[in-house]
Amino acid sequence: MTEGGRGPTQPALAFSYEGRPHEILEEVIDICDAIEIVPDCMLDKATDHIANQHAYDVQNVIDGRAIYAHGIGLSIGTVTSWNTNYLTTIESTISKFAIRWFSEHLGFTTVDGHFLGCMPAIPRTCEFVELIADRAANLRAQFGIEFLFEHVASPVDSGGNLTHGEFFNAVADASSCGLILDLHNLECEADNGRLNLVDFFDTIDFRHVREIHLAGGIWRDGLHLDVHSNLCAPTTNSLFESVVSKCPNLELVVFELLSQAIPRVGSYAIRQQLQSIRAILDGLSGKENDERIALSAVSAGSSTPRA
Ligand SMILES: [Fe+2]
Repeated sequence: MTEGGRGPTQPALAFSYEGRPHEILEEVIDICDAIEIVPDCMLDKATDHIANQHAYDVQNVIDGRAIYAHGIGLSIGTVTSWNTNYLTTIESTISKFAIRWFSEHLGFTTVDGHFLGCMPAIPRTCEFVELIADRAANLRAQFGIEFLFEHVASPVDSGGNLTHGEFFNAVADASSCGLILDLHNLECEADNGRLNLVDFFDTIDFRHVREIHLAGGIWRDGLHLDVHSNLCAPTTNSLFESVVSKCPNLELVVFELLSQAIPRVGSYAIRQQLQSIRAILDGLSGKENDERIALSAVSAGSSTPRA
């Protein structure tokens, strides 16, 4: 099914799919073990349900591969209430696809019912850890599936008395949910002076990491932005090599690329990116505990600014 196949203990490799162009699925599916869908980009806006055409496009190519869902609009960090309409989207996603799990971001996208047009990160405090844990319990009880959470990159300080690593651990411990380690957004945080990668990786409990994200962004006005508009920078690939073998419960590795960027990047380059990730995963087989590249060699702020 998958080009080259993967070892029995190797994490699944996936491409992030936002519903268009649908041709990209057929162009990369042979390299992938799974697909990560973004339900927010596949909705019939009148109903907040997954549009039938999008469901068909995925089911048409999936051929037994696993499907994971990665949401944007739950706004789990809005103090007064999460986005209750989004529960319909989660329900619709589960009804259309046999998803392995649903993941969301540790941020907020709505306030007083109004969409912000961006996703600020939540403050790193014990109060927010409790909020996330309570809501995670509600999600599990309502939908009966596993939920994961991803840290959000923030060019401005999101505040709080916990370090990023402490907050990451506390959310996982309190919520009993797995975590997504998005290496590009962590690089952005480091490049923008928000965290030190070595300190972060010295702090986090890698057992919580179930999924890793890889992506490429842009530099603008001196800031490294996590916009998923490019292939991975060499620094991101190196970071992946240095941390992937440390995650004993890792199940999924996803290359994320905005749908708008696909025509410019092109399917050939996307395939090469996926194959390079596959090569790293293949190198892990049989030596998962071998930390092949010393993490200390990866310095904070290591990405090269691009125009
Ligand atoms: Fe991500």
